[in-house]
Order: sequence, then structure tokens, then C-alpha cells
Amino acid sequence: MDRFVIRGGKPLAGTISVSGSKNASLPIAVAAAILGTTDSVIRNVPDLRDVQTLRRLLRHLGTETEYSPASHTLFVPASESLGVEAPYELVSQMRASIYVLGPLLARFGRAQVSFPGGCAIGTRPVDLHLRGMEALGAYVRVEHGYILAQARRLRGAEFSLRGPRGSSVGATANVMMAAVLAEGTTVVHDAAREPEIVDLGRFLNRMGARIEGLGSSTLVIQGVSTLRGAEHAVIPDRIEAASYLIAGAMTRGELRVSGAERRHLSAVLAKLTEADVWVDWEGDTCRVTVPNGIRSVDVTTDTYPGFPTDVQAQFMGLMCLGDGVSRIRERIFPDRFMHALELQRLGANIQLGEGEAIVRGVPYLTGAPVMAGDLRAGMVLILAGLVARGETVVSRVYHVDRGYERVEEKLRAVGADIVRVSE
Ligand code: EPZ
Repeated sequence: MDRFVIRGGKPLAGTISVSGSKNASLPIAVAAAILGTTDSVIRNVPDLRDVQTLRRLLRHLGTETEYSPASHTLFVPASESLGVEAPYELVSQMRASIYVLGPLLARFGRAQVSFPGGCAIGTRPVDLHLRGMEALGAYVRVEHGYILAQARRLRGAEFSLRGPRGSSVGATANVMMAAVLAEGTTVVHDAAREPEIVDLGRFLNRMGARIEGLGSSTLVIQGVSTLRGAEHAVIPDRIEAASYLIAGAMTRGELRVSGAERRHLSAVLAKLTEADVWVDWEGDTCRVTVPNGIRSVDVTTDTYPGFPTDVQAQFMGLMCLGDGVSRIRERIFPDRFMHALELQRLGANIQLGEGEAIVRGVPYLTGAPVMAGDLRAGMVLILAGLVARGETVVSRVYHVDRGYERVEEKLRAVGADIVRVSE
């Protein structure tokens, strides 16, 4: 297990470039591998542990993808038949494995996916995924920890994917990848509007699918009988971009972030502006500066276009250095606050309540040993380590490797003192 050893206090200056989106690459690769009757080429796929896990899952199903880390290109061959089982060993490593459910069912009439269960960011049910498959006419049951789904041919239907916390990214992706091959028209209400869903939809349409309404909460999908492979470049990772914007703000250097998609960052940019962090754009590159100190502001996470839950932890890190009190409410995953306890080890003043955290700004943080509990929690500990006085050791960085490409190299290149220590 690797650790990061960080010596804080170095202002970051220079340019960090944003990689392709993890959360768009995963479903797009699944769609290509399972639904494509000819080969696909997917560009701008980040070199991440989750991408490797997905390739292992696809290999288990019977398809051998080729990935070039240098060109960030994933070649996905067409397949005539595949296995239909996603085993516990892989699903437990990566919940996004559940994305194989819809497309396997649509193309091969059967899927057997290990139940993902809970994870570090709280309870994460899959009832909406199952409800979507049933609405499309599948027979679904859960047996011995496996989701077993079957259907001769899925049938188009009209239904809502509204859950207790609004729309679901994963259920929308799964239903889209199933409905594209269903007989007739599917109308999905309360669909997720996240840019990653739009990107998946665009890819599916390139394969020959007929999806309308992408980016809105109602999707209309006309089923087709087959899909070919396609070429596609994945959108930039908005969460990675937001993380580096916050890194620039916390370290108060003069960091530039390049290759970001400004439209996808609206809610984060609005909050940064409110916090008196200046972000100046020139094309797809922006410069982050903090001329007057960080203002404490309140934030509530929401589905897109609201403030993303995947940036909540990093924003909390920023608020630890604010000039007053900030209330952070988590609407999507109310228990996603593991990072708060670790930030306290570094001297942060955070009080946890139900689904919320009250953060009182402190003048400085102090280095300490901390542990990454999940991907974004790991990132905020790195950010905090970059500004803390003295040495911070972040353990369990495999969480960070799941979703941030070459994080320590990117940060070192702009002046951070961070080294990876392998045990
Ligand atoms: C996706 O997870 C992302 N993962 C998550 O990114 C992200 O935090 C999340 O969307 C929210 O934006 C991928 O894209 C691979 P949801 P997903 O279904 O699809 C409830 C990261 O750090 N719900 O939109 O699993 C659920 O409990 C990660 O990169 C149900 O009730 O999230 C939550 O409260 C972590 N029933 C809400 O909906 C269901 O069947 C939204 O979850 C499904 C979800």
C-alpha cells in the first residue's frame, strides 16, 4: 500500500492539465464492449485504477480491450457473444461494475451481477437500476448476493427514475444502455442531467442509438435492433478540474488549470467566486488567485447543475481556511463526511451534524498522519497536506489512484513537495 509524504507550505505555480473524465469513460467503455457489433476507439480515457478494473471485468466477460496510457486511447473490439456474470471480486472493487447489467440484458437477454453493497461514502442502494430494468420488461430477482435479470427482448416503456434524493446517475446510465436496444419507445422521467450522462448518450447515438433530450430530465429513446462501434473523445474530468482549482486557492499560488470545460463547472465556479477566489479564463485555461483571503460560504450539494457531491470534501478543505463559519450540507450522500475526522487531525475545526458539517476557519493547518477513506476524501487530505505546516503522511492512497491520474506527478510539476512511498 502506497503513502504520500507531503511537506506543506509551497505555493503552487504553473499549469496543471485536466485528464479525461473517469465517470464518463467507465459507462462509455461498457457500452462499446457490450453493445457494439463493430470495434470502438475511445480517446481521452484517463490512466486510472478504475479503468484497469473495468478492463479486467470486460476480460472476465470475454473481451480483451487494448489501452495505451501514452495516447489515452482505449480500443474496444466488437464481440459476438460474451459471458453475463460480473463477479463479487470485481464489483466489490468498483461499484460502476453494475453498468454491465443493462447492456448485457439488452443484448444477450441475461445478466448476473454481484450486489454492490455499502461503501465508504454510505449506503448506496441499486433499487432504481432494478426498477428501470423491470419497467423495460425484465424479470429481476436477487439471490445469494447476486442480481439476476432476464428478458427475451426488452420493451420500451414510460417511467420515472426519481429516487429519494432526486435522479440517479448510475440508474440513468444503466437504463439508457438497455433501452437503446428495446423494442419501441422508452420515455424516462427524472433522468440524471450530469455531463457524464450526456457524454454517454452522445456516444450511444454515434453507435446508432436514437436518444433525445440529453441534458434534460426527460429522455426519449427509440429502440433499434443493433448498434455498431464508434469513435469518441471523452469529456474533461470536471471533478479533477474543480479539485485543482481548489488546490490553487488553498495554496494561494498562481496556478493555471488547462483543458477544463467551463460550462460543466458553473456551480463550483459560483461558490469559488462567493468565497473570493478569483478564476480568470482564457479559452479552456483558467488562472486561480486569492488576492484577499478566503471568505467562508455555505454550500449544499445537489444533482447537476447543482454543486457536486464529488467536490464537497475538497471544498470543505478550502473552508477550513476561511475567515468565518461555513455550513456544508450533503444532500446526495448524507454520510459522506469521513474526511472531516481526518481534517481535524490536521487542526481543522469541524463539527458534524446530521447530513451537515459546520466548519470554522482556522489560521493554519498542521501536518499529521492521516488516512484516505475514499477517493475524494483522499484528495482533500492531499490538498490540506499541501498547505499544512510540517509533514503530512496520507495513507491508503490507492483510493486516490482510482480517480486521479498521476496526481503526485501533476502536483510536483507545479511546485508541490509530495512523494509517493511504496511499502
Ligand atoms: C455516481 O455514482 C458517481 N459514480 C459518483 O462518483 C457520484 O458521487 C454520484 O454519481 C453522484 O453524482 C460514477 O459515475 C461511477 P447516484 P452513482 O445513483 O451513480 C441514491 C466519485 O467520487 N440512489 O446518482 O452510484 C443514492 O444512494 C463517485 O467519483 C438510490 O436511492 O450515484 C444517492 O443518494 C463516488 N437508489 C443518490 O441516489 C439507486 O438505485 C444519487 O446516487 C441509486 C441511487
